[in-house]
Amino acid sequence: MGQPAELGRSPPVPTSRRRGLYLIPAVIIFLWTQFALFPRLLSSDLPATQKLSQHRLEQLERHLQACSALHRPPVGYEQPTGLNVNRGNPRWSAKTGQSQAIVLRNATLFDGDHTLDHPVDITFHKGIITQIVPTAHQDSHLDDHDALVLDLEGRFVTPGLVDMHSHHIAGSSPDVRAVEDVNEIHPDFGPLTPYVKALDALKAYDPVAAIVASGGVTSSLILPGSANIMGGEAVPVKNVRRDEAGEELVEELLLEHGVPKEQRRRYMKMACGENPKDVYGHTRMGNAFLFRKQMDSARQLLVKQDDWCLAAAAASETGDERAIADLVKDGGLPTDIALESSVAMLRGQVGINIHCYESEDIEAMLRHSEEFGFRIQAFHHALEAWRVPDTIKNSGQNITVATFSHFAHYKHEAYDATLYAGKILTEHGVPVAYKSDGSNEFLNAKYLLSQAAEAHSFGLPEIQALQSVTSIPARSLELAHRIGYARPGYDADLVVWDSHPLSNGATPLQVYIDGRATLNTTIDQLKSVPTTMSAPSSRLQPLLTERTSICDQASRADANLIITGITKALIPDLHPQSNTDNLTLVLSGGRIACLGPATECLAPAADDRTAIHLQNGHILPGLTAVTAGLGLQDIIMEPSTGDGIVSGPAPKTIIYAKHGLHPGGSKDLQRAKLGGITTAITAPLVTDGMPVFLRGISVAFKVSPSSTTTTTTTTTAADEPSPRENQTLLDRAILHPDVGLHIHIGQTGKTENTPTVSAQIGLLRRFLAGGHHASSSAPSSQTHPDDVDAEVYTQVSNGTLPLIIHVLNRYDILHLIQLKRDFPDTNLILFGATEAPLVARELAASRIPVLFTGLRPNPDTWEVKEAFVGDPLTEPGLKVLVEAGVKVGLAQAGWSDSGVHNLGVDAGFAAKVAGLSEQRAVDLVSREVQEILHLGGGGGDFVVYEGNPLEWGASVVLTVDGARSAVVECWPEAS
Ligand SMILES: *[C@@H]1O[C@H](CO)[C@@H](O)[C@H](O)[C@H]1NC(C)=O
Ligand SMILES: *[C@@H]1O[C@H](CO)[C@@H](O)[C@H](O)[C@H]1NC(C)=O
Ligand SMILES: *[C@@H]1O[C@H](CO)[C@@H](O)[C@H](O)[C@H]1NC(C)=O
Repeated sequence: MGQPAELGRSPPVPTSRRRGLYLIPAVIIFLWTQFALFPRLLSSDLPATQKLSQHRLEQLERHLQACSALHRPPVGYEQPTGLNVNRGNPRWSAKTGQSQAIVLRNATLFDGDHTLDHPVDITFHKGIITQIVPTAHQDSHLDDHDALVLDLEGRFVTPGLVDMHSHHIAGSSPDVRAVEDVNEIHPDFGPLTPYVKALDALKAYDPVAAIVASGGVTSSLILPGSANIMGGEAVPVKNVRRDEAGEELVEELLLEHGVPKEQRRRYMKMACGENPKDVYGHTRMGNAFLFRKQMDSARQLLVKQDDWCLAAAAASETGDERAIADLVKDGGLPTDIALESSVAMLRGQVGINIHCYESEDIEAMLRHSEEFGFRIQAFHHALEAWRVPDTIKNSGQNITVATFSHFAHYKHEAYDATLYAGKILTEHGVPVAYKSDGSNEFLNAKYLLSQAAEAHSFGLPEIQALQSVTSIPARSLELAHRIGYARPGYDADLVVWDSHPLSNGATPLQVYIDGRATLNTTIDQLKSVPTTMSAPSSRLQPLLTERTSICDQASRADANLIITGITKALIPDLHPQSNTDNLTLVLSGGRIACLGPATECLAPAADDRTAIHLQNGHILPGLTAVTAGLGLQDIIMEPSTGDGIVSGPAPKTIIYAKHGLHPGGSKDLQRAKLGGITTAITAPLVTDGMPVFLRGISVAFKVSPSSTTTTTTTTTAADEPSPRENQTLLDRAILHPDVGLHIHIGQTGKTENTPTVSAQIGLLRRFLAGGHHASSSAPSSQTHPDDVDAEVYTQVSNGTLPLIIHVLNRYDILHLIQLKRDFPDTNLILFGATEAPLVARELAASRIPVLFTGLRPNPDTWEVKEAFVGDPLTEPGLKVLVEAGVKVGLAQAGWSDSGVHNLGVDAGFAAKVAGLSEQRAVDLVSREVQEILHLGGGGGDFVVYEGNPLEWGASVVLTVDGARSAVVECWPEAS
C-alpha cells in the first residue's frame, strides 16, 4: 500500500473517466485495496484517534466501508474460468434441491462449445454436473450406487438454453392490467428510470415459467420494457416450476439465489430510437441529450465520491479531527439513490443491454460509451446491426447482438432486416444470440430454439447456431461460469432432446434445472420417440451465374426446362406413377410435360434444354397463406406506408381489402415468395391492441402475379376473363375480390360501439336476422342502412359470402355455435380459435371450420388462458382438433407477416405434433384453406424446391402459375 498522507494531500482524480474503458478495472482494483484496508487501520490503537469522538470515528468507518463497496471490482472482471467440480450450486438446498445423483448414459452432447465426437455419460448431483466421461467406460465411473441411471440411447443433450431478453414473469400469464409492470412510464419520472428494477415486478406464481422451461429454456434475463431511454435494471432468473411444497418466492427464482446480494450481477436495460421517441415525443437529438445529461450527473457524483473516499481515507490515517468532522458533517459519502445505478455503470459494475435497431442509433450509443467510458454488453433486437458489423466489432467492446431470426418489418427501425443477419454478423466476428422478447404467440419464449434453427437454415453454421442460445448469451451476461455450458462444475441445467436440436419441432424429452427434472417424462417415453441425429442443411443458393442463366431461360414464355433429382411430389393430382425417389420433371412452356424417371422423361437424343440438377428436390402446390395484412402496408406501424389501419369506432361503411391492395414490393411479400406461397388472403388491417369489430372484407391475391398478359393462349381457367391489353397489375393479382366478411368477437372486438362481448354477439345476431347495419348501433350515429352494405349482410345471412369470425375464447366460440344453430345458412368460419381444442367435439358436430392460429399458443391473455400449450406439457391443440374431425387449415398468428416464409415449416411442425402425413400437412396450408374459404382450388400453381419445405433449409427454385402456365418466380432471394 502507498503513502496515505500523500494521498490525502493530493488525491489522485480517478482516471477511469479520462483514459477510456480499459483502465476501469485497474483503477478500481487499486482503489478497492485502499479502502478495503483502511477500516482495519482505524481499529488499531493510533494515539491521534483517541482524541476523536467515538461517534465520528464510527461514522467515518461506516462510510469508508461504503467506499470499499463502491470500488468493488466490476462484475465479470474476475470471471471464474477453471472448472471447479467442487463448487456448489448456490441455488441448491437440502430441502428442495436435487437429492439423488442422476447419470444420463450414452448421450450425444453439445457442451456449449461443440458437439462431442463420442457418446458420453453425464453425472450430476446436488445441482452440479460432476462428471462427463465417454460412454465406453461406463461401468468404472459410478461410485454412487444410489444414482438414477437413464439410458438416452444416443439422444442429444444440450445445456439449458439461455434467453437474454424476456419479460415473461415481469407481467404475468394471463396478463391483465393489474399485473403489467414492464415499463415504468409514469410522467413524474420521464424517460430516464435507471433506478427501477425488474426484480420488483417479478411474479413467482406466474405459470409461464414452466411453459418456457418446457421448451428447454432454463435461464432468462428479465428486463424492463423499452419505452424509456434508461428502463431500469434487469435480473436473471431460472425458469423453475412452482415448487408445490414451498412458498412461491421471487428470491427463489433468481439465478443468483444463494449468492450474497452484494455480489450479484447487475444489468441495465436501455433503449434507443423509436420507442422512447414515440412514448415521450423527443427526437433522437433530445433522447441523446437526456441520456448524456444523466451520465454527466453520474460522472460528477462519481468524482465527488472518489474524492470523498480518498480524503476520508487520508483523514482516518492521520487522525485529523477537523478533517474528519468536515467529512462526516453533511451526510458523509455523497450518494443519490436515483443516480446509484448510473454511477455503477461508470464503475463497470452493471452490464449494459441496449434495445437499439438502426445503424445511426448503434453509432450514437458507441459514441456515448466512449464519451463516458462504459462498456456495452449487448445490442438487443438490433435488426440493422448487420449493416455495421465492423463498427460494432471494432469498438473493441465485444458487443453481443441479441436479435430475432425473422421477426421484422413492423416498424421503420425493423424494416431493413435480413434473414442472413446471423451469418453476416458471425462472419464479422460479432457474437450473435437469439432471444424471445417474451412469451406471446409469435415471440414465444418456449420456442427460442427454433430461432437458432431458422438462423442455421439461413447460413449460420450449426455450432454457432447452437451457441447462439447457450454459451454466447451466457458469456454476454457474464454468467458463463455457471450456465450456457454442460461441463463438470456447471449448474446441472440440461435438456434431453427428441431429435437434433436444430431440426423442425425439436422438443425436450426432459429438462433439468439445478439437477431437478421438470417434466413428467418417463423412461418409456424417452425410448419411444424416434431420433433425427443430423442437423438439417442450410439453404442452398446457386452461384449467381448459374442462377442468372437458369432464370433467364425460365422467364421465357416458351421455357423448356429439365429438373432432375426430385425426391418427392406432394401434390395429390400429380403423384407420379413410378415409385421412385429420383424423378425428373420436364417443364415446357410453363406446364408439366413429364414427371417420372429420367428414362421416361428424357429423350435419348442429345438434349440442349436448360437443366437444373437438384439434390433433394420437392414439388408442392403453391401454398395459401391466410395473413395478418400482407399486401396492404409495407410497415405495419407506419400508416403512411400503405393502406392504413382500421381502428377506433367502426367505420360507417364496410371496408374492402381489395381497395387497398399494394400487391408488390413489400418485404413481407418477398418473404412470402421465399416460402413458396402463391396465394395470400388478407383482411383490412388492424394493429395489435387496436380493437375493431367490423373489420371488413378480405381479398385473395396472387403473391407473384404473372407479368405476361398475352401468353395465355391455352389453358386459361374457364371463368377467367380473357386477357386484355388494358389489364393492370391489380387485374392480374386479384384472384377473389371478396373472400369473406371479417368480424371480431371477444377482447379485440371491444370498440366504442361494441364494448362488451354480449354487445358484439347481439349486434351480429341483429344484422344476420334483419340486415341491420353493423356499424350503426351507437345511438348517436346515423341509422340509414347503406344499400350496398345491406346487400353484403344479406349475402352473409344466406351463406353466399363467408362470415369469418376472429375469436379465441372457448365460451365465445360456444356462443357462435349457438348462433350458427339459429342461422344455419350462414357460412361461419372461425379465425384464430386458440381455445377451439377445448370445444373440439362441439365444433365438429356443428361443422364449423377453423382457420387455426394456435399452433404454438401461450396462455398470455385471460381469453386464452386454458389454451393447450402442446408438447411436452399438454396434448397439442391441433391434434385435438384434427382427431375430433374439425375441418382445419392454418393461418398466420399475430399481427406481423414477417414469418410468413415459414408456412411450410409450420406445416411440418403441425405434422409432427398432430401425427399427420406430409401430404395432410401440406393440405393444411393449401387445399384445406382453399376449401374452407370456398376459393375453388389453388389454380394449379406449383413450386419446385431444393430441400423439403416442411423442414428448415429448403429454398424455392421455381414457382409456376398454373392458370397462366408461366414461371413467376425463379430462386427468389431472402431479405
Ligand atoms: C449408444 O446409443 C447408440 C444409439 O442408440 C447405440 O448404437 C450404442 O450401442 C449405444 N452405446 C452403448 C454403450 O450403449
Ligand atoms: C466475446 O464474447 C463472446 C460471447 O459473449 C465470447 O464467446 C468471446 O470469448 C468474447 N471474446 C473476447 C475476446 O472476450
Ligand atoms: C406431473 O404429474 C403429476 C401427477 O400426475 C401432475 O399433478 C402434474 O400436473 C404433472 N406435471 C406436469 C408438468 O405435467
